[in-house]
Amino acid sequence: MRSSAIVAALALATSVLAAPAKRTTAFADIPVEYLKGFKNPIIESSAGGKALCISGMIDVTVSATNILMKSQEPANDIAVTELLVETFQINSTVSEKLVGGPNSVNGTFGIYSKLCFPVGGSINATTVHFTIHGAGFGREYWDFAPGYSYVDFAAEQGYTTFSYDRLGSAQSDHPDPIQIVQLNIQVSIAHELIQSLRTGGISDTAFEHVVGVGHSLGSFQTVGITTRYPDDLDAAVLTGFSPSLAGIPVAFAGVNLAPAAGSQPLRFSSLANGYLSSGDIHGTQFFFFRAPGFDPALLDLAEMNKQTVTVGEFLTIAKPVVTNFTGPIDVVNGESDFPNCSGNCSLPYNLAAAVKDAFYPLASNGSSWYLAPLSGHGLNLHYSAPGAYEHILDFVKRNGL
Ligand SMILES: *[C@@H]1O[C@H](CO)[C@@H](O)[C@H](O)[C@H]1NC(C)=O
Ligand SMILES: *[C@@H]1O[C@H](CO)[C@@H](O)[C@H](O)[C@H]1NC(C)=O
Ligand SMILES: *[C@@H]1O[C@H](CO)[C@@H](O)[C@H](O)[C@H]1NC(C)=O
Ligand SMILES: *[C@@H]1O[C@H](CO)[C@@H](O)[C@H](O)[C@H]1NC(C)=O
Ligand SMILES: *[C@@H]1O[C@H](CO)[C@@H](O)[C@H](O)[C@H]1NC(C)=O
Ligand SMILES: *[C@@H]1O[C@H](CO)[C@@H](O)[C@H](O)[C@H]1NC(C)=O
Ligand SMILES: *[C@@H]1O[C@H](CO)[C@@H](O)[C@H](O)[C@H]1NC(C)=O
Repeated sequence: MRSSAIVAALALATSVLAAPAKRTTAFADIPVEYLKGFKNPIIESSAGGKALCISGMIDVTVSATNILMKSQEPANDIAVTELLVETFQINSTVSEKLVGGPNSVNGTFGIYSKLCFPVGGSINATTVHFTIHGAGFGREYWDFAPGYSYVDFAAEQGYTTFSYDRLGSAQSDHPDPIQIVQLNIQVSIAHELIQSLRTGGISDTAFEHVVGVGHSLGSFQTVGITTRYPDDLDAAVLTGFSPSLAGIPVAFAGVNLAPAAGSQPLRFSSLANGYLSSGDIHGTQFFFFRAPGFDPALLDLAEMNKQTVTVGEFLTIAKPVVTNFTGPIDVVNGESDFPNCSGNCSLPYNLAAAVKDAFYPLASNGSSWYLAPLSGHGLNLHYSAPGAYEHILDFVKRNGL
């Protein structure tokens, strides 16, 4: 039953999109030094064929101050649902019960990464776009399908993009989902990768400028970078992000988080119960989509390719602090984002425009914001994605990057 449903979904997605598969390309097509830093690299075109991409594992050695969780691996589905109920109930004591003091962690982790540059061109060392996906997706959130690819859009304008699977997502390593895969170590990993991009450790190119582009939990990490390492980024683009927490409980009830191993055993059976995903396609739609702003084939693709979030990440999402970052910020949301705007980013006031005063009082006056029409939280999977990309690239260029 389950596998026939997957086959049917695949057939639907293929017929609606009629997309050419990402094609692998011969190594001879690119300078050999571009492979620097990647283990077992492969070369393939981006979703829309505008970029050539090198993908492979990059080993990242980090240490970070995580938070000690006084929590065991959830025993089963019931324990996960109970954790969510207790988190969102009135007078919740989950933080007091589970969140402990600082916990130093370290290690070397395999981070699956992808660097893309304009097809027929070369890597321009002036600026790299450093993208961080959110929960529920992997690196391909930025190169999802033809016409829905930030990677393609940036490449058409001459830009190089770097994307990667966050620790615990897709093809990156999956360590302990409670004590290791938390916000702070994710910020440390991003910092190491950015340092590598700036010093020529990746693709033998020392990039002069780095523009951070995050989505949702990836925006939280981007905020973490601007707070802990203010010199890492020349500009920060935060998508799926606002100062409002009002929509969070309903959005999390709707997404119906469950152990990923139970939701999609064919893909996730080896993962511990601390790795969570949306319960089913209805949860994925509730959290990330807004009809009629999307092609149903994209929802099917999102569900088929969905990724995880960990209990450790869920418990360490904290309200961002005000940072002293002085570069420009750009806040870009689907106007009907549910988790971040309760379904309308204009109410009770413009929640995208409000981020600067709330968290970035010193951000430069080159800062900007944009609300994409007819879009939910998973903006890149909506018809209005190209308009948002155009706005972001204009923002980047206006700031001389
Ligand atoms: C419980 O919540 C109510 C309503 O928000 C609040 O007035 C009360 O102080 C809370 N009690 C405790 C013990 O936190
Ligand atoms: C790494 O963590 C271990 C404990 O897990 C600790 O013994 C060691 O000193 C740490 N190393 C560094 C470089 O922080
Ligand atoms: C690289 O990008 C910068 C900034 O966009 C541009 O001024 C420069 O001409 C580009 N260099 C090449 C070789 O295309
Ligand atoms: C935005 O939504 C995400 C859920 O994806 C949530 O974790 C986060 O707390 C929200 N951000 C803010 C600043 O409210
Ligand atoms: C920002 O700067 C103020 C004043 O220098 C300082 O007190 C504060 O700790 C800084 N905040 C951060 C997050 O760095
Ligand atoms: C959001 O709220 C504003 C102000 O009430 C309203 O004009 C707009 O139509 C609403 N947008 C959506 C998509 O519902
Ligand atoms: C932005 O700031 C720069 C330098 O601080 C200043 O010269 C410029 O007039 C400002 N622009 C606007 C639109 O405020």
